[in-house]
Amino acid sequence: MTAVETTPEPAAIEAGGAIMERLFMAMLGSLELATVHLGSQLGLYAALAQPRSAGELASATGIDERYAEEWLEQQAIGGLVEVAEPGDRRTRRYVTSRGQRMALAEPDSPVYAASMALLLGGVGAVLPRLPQTYRDGTGISFGEYGDDVRLGQGLFNRIAFLGQLVPEWLPAMPDVAALLARDGAAAVDLGCGVGWSSIALAQAHPALTVLGVDSDDASVMEARLHAADAGLEDRVRFEVVDAAADLGEDSFDVAFYFEALHDMAHPVEALASTGRALRPGGRVVVMDERAEEEFAPDGSEIERLLAASSVLHCLPVGRSQGDSTATGALFRPATMRRYAEQAGYAAVEVAPIEHDVFRFYVLRP
Ligand SMILES: C[S@@+](CC[C@H](N)C(=O)[O-])C[C@H]1O[C@@H](n2cnc3c(N)ncnc32)[C@H](O)[C@@H]1O
Repeated sequence: MTAVETTPEPAAIEAGGAIMERLFMAMLGSLELATVHLGSQLGLYAALAQPRSAGELASATGIDERYAEEWLEQQAIGGLVEVAEPGDRRTRRYVTSRGQRMALAEPDSPVYAASMALLLGGVGAVLPRLPQTYRDGTGISFGEYGDDVRLGQGLFNRIAFLGQLVPEWLPAMPDVAALLARDGAAAVDLGCGVGWSSIALAQAHPALTVLGVDSDDASVMEARLHAADAGLEDRVRFEVVDAAADLGEDSFDVAFYFEALHDMAHPVEALASTGRALRPGGRVVVMDERAEEEFAPDGSEIERLLAASSVLHCLPVGRSQGDSTATGALFRPATMRRYAEQAGYAAVEVAPIEHDVFRFYVLRP
């Protein structure tokens, strides 16, 4: 028998309407983020450092003038660029303010945000594959999410690695800081991505050698280019290696997992292998998502971000190898403690670092 829907109560209409309003705002945000993706890929924000009409922007960046008109009007309507000189859509001139360029065109600025558009683009690229992946219970590797996710992830954490890791985070982990400062110190960076964390560590410690490993070939290739640009090829090496592989014994003073453990198919095996590779007195640092201690409905914005990232990216990545632990991005402290215990560690401490998105665990073998 099918249930007969009665006339909806006013409360149900109100609740449905609230969801409709919320999704409308989400649609607006997603569409505007996609226009940022387009603008930053084409170099339009940087080109608007000086006032330009649509025709001038088109000539300067090699795009079609009619498309330039449309994009410029939309950006000004959305408050992402400014009108420098009034006119009609052909004659009007537009410009980016310093703040707009910092957020949209300057990867070194502390408020660079265009990487978020790349991350959205990467999810868009695999959206058609996700329904079948959900039916099969299989996964999609980090590399299969394509250039946008690799570049977006790299740019998203780069600012913090180059600006906060050494001056702010390491002092809150004094054992780790002391190990890194020793003569002949060696560190391993597991799931290093495009390498900015390894580079930041080496730049600050002249006697430190760093091995960055990642299972994604394209990330490792890019990391090598970044190390060469920084003049660090002699002390920072990148290899395509699974974190759960044998890393030898007595090789490293500190091992780091920067936002990578929850993406790994076999996190306990990886931690166990890392533990064997540590020198006496060594430490493992896991920087991972600051998920709440326990599940609760109607979560905070960060919890919602982590949950949605997990559904669309992190869990499929984690399940891209057979027999996966299937962790996901809602990486709770209890999960960290369980993995560390299973991998044979004696203690897990949370470092006193205030951060909206990340929690820092220090593991002692
Ligand atoms: C979210 S990204 C973080 C990258 C970088 N650490 C950062 O913070 O920007 C996760 C990284 O883990 C890598 N990864 C996933 N599974 C891995 C595994 N089993 N072994 C090594 N790397 C892995 C991915 O290729 C990806 O580069």
